[in-house]
Amino acid sequence: MKIKNICCIGAGYVGGPTMAVIAKNCPEIQVTVVDINPERIANWNDENLLKLPIYEPGLDKIIAQCRGKNLHFSTDIPNFIKSADLVFISVNTPTKTSGIGAGQAIDLKYVEESSRIIAKYANGHTIVVEKSTLPVKTAQTIKEILDASTMNNEEENKSFSVLSNPEFLAEGTAINDLVNPDRILIGGEDTQAINALVEIYSNWVDKDKVFTTDLWSSELSKLISNAFLAQRISSINTISALCESTGAKINDVALAVGMDKRIGSSFLNSGPGFGGSCFKKDISNLVYISNHYGLFEVANYWQKVLDINSWQQKRFVELIVKNMFGTISSKKIAILGFAFKANTNDTRESPAIYICRKLLEEGAFLNIYDPKVSSAQISKDLNFSNNQMLNHNWSFSNSLDDAFRNVDAALILTEWNEFQSLEWRNLSKLMRKPAWVFDTRSIVNIEEAQQYGMKVWQVGYGN
Ligand SMILES: NC(=O)c1ccc[n+]([C@@H]2O[C@H](COP(=O)([O-])OP(=O)(O)OC[C@H]3O[C@@H](n4cnc5c(N)ncnc54)[C@H](O)[C@@H]3O)[C@@H](O)[C@H]2O)c1
Repeated sequence: MKIKNICCIGAGYVGGPTMAVIAKNCPEIQVTVVDINPERIANWNDENLLKLPIYEPGLDKIIAQCRGKNLHFSTDIPNFIKSADLVFISVNTPTKTSGIGAGQAIDLKYVEESSRIIAKYANGHTIVVEKSTLPVKTAQTIKEILDASTMNNEEENKSFSVLSNPEFLAEGTAINDLVNPDRILIGGEDTQAINALVEIYSNWVDKDKVFTTDLWSSELSKLISNAFLAQRISSINTISALCESTGAKINDVALAVGMDKRIGSSFLNSGPGFGGSCFKKDISNLVYISNHYGLFEVANYWQKVLDINSWQQKRFVELIVKNMFGTISSKKIAILGFAFKANTNDTRESPAIYICRKLLEEGAFLNIYDPKVSSAQISKDLNFSNNQMLNHNWSFSNSLDDAFRNVDAALILTEWNEFQSLEWRNLSKLMRKPAWVFDTRSIVNIEEAQQYGMKVWQVGYGN
């Protein structure tokens, strides 16, 4: 089966970059990304590449190269499903906010809606691929919805194969991750469909990196990969607190531990806790599934990874207040970075949201600066619906100088490159004295900052 037309439902952080890389490497395939959000699609189609809805290094170049040739963005969902041989489902899978499983289970409504629309408009044989991260056994639901539409459809000759092909890209390095993946995971039962998908990836990925398995193992593997990554972050964050108390150096400990081949060095940077749309929701889901199967010890184990993440953020707020003579009321703080990590404009579950809200509640005024996050997004994230005064206690800064002017402290929350070499000689002059820097990413050169009169607190080192 040769794939000529691909449709991807969901033009988000996964759908956009993933389809761009497929289009670039498969010029003979027409790839269309569809979405219900017309504004998002308009931004993907904007001639000004600065307006792309997602910031990822290298993405704009691929869009410039492929858009309008074999890569398209559209809101005409029925039409592009009709002409597709293969449909990726790349929609969001948030945590349920109400009803059974609220706060833990995944809300599958967008996946279900996508399945229904595929069932309605697909033509001939269609391969349906789960790209979204889904609870184990979701493929069964998709299959049932699709199969129901194939009854009494002799004239249309509709049929489906369902595959799982979870995405492992990390925001901030998405293009590189997609171009040089560690593995491509495909779960399914239909060998012909699996081979068709393998053939697409084989245009740029070595075949020995493609791992095929059954549907349930594929779905669960993605959830577990995220859980293991988040667990490493929580593990090193507990040790950052121990280092602050004992005088051991967190970066040296992480380096020494990571040099062990059995452990490896990735994901051992202590910081303000993990953010992003995936880790929290996927672990919450793992907790929910484990409880559902009566595996309470398993559920409790993974719940702790989430608890430590919240604890790290809470203790940072307390440390800031304690260091600044026990009160930050009417003090001004420069917030450096609002995205949940460097090289992305994504703020979903960013530690900055919790930390800034708490600082505002303590009475501080914040100057917030992030190279890629817009003022409108920050405003949405920090909205106190029941306290208009707090909504006005921060301002958006367009530059570092702007952010540092007249502040008592600077708080580094995202490890953007430009925060790794701050010019303390100039910046310290803009601040009120005594001036603090709270470095939650361990990127400040402590001696240099101290040389210009800064009082420094750094994660894993303390004061
Ligand atoms: N963001 C990541 O780093 C990442 C990495 C790997 C996997 N994932 C998983 O991929 C999935 C998508 O994540 P994302 O970050 O791209 O989400 P996102 O919110 O950025 O994008 C999802 C898009 O789907 C669209 N959508 C929802 N329902 C639709 C429908 N019925 N028809 C058409 N469009 C619809 C939304 O409008 C939105 O634009 C999630 O399951 C996530 O867990 C995300």
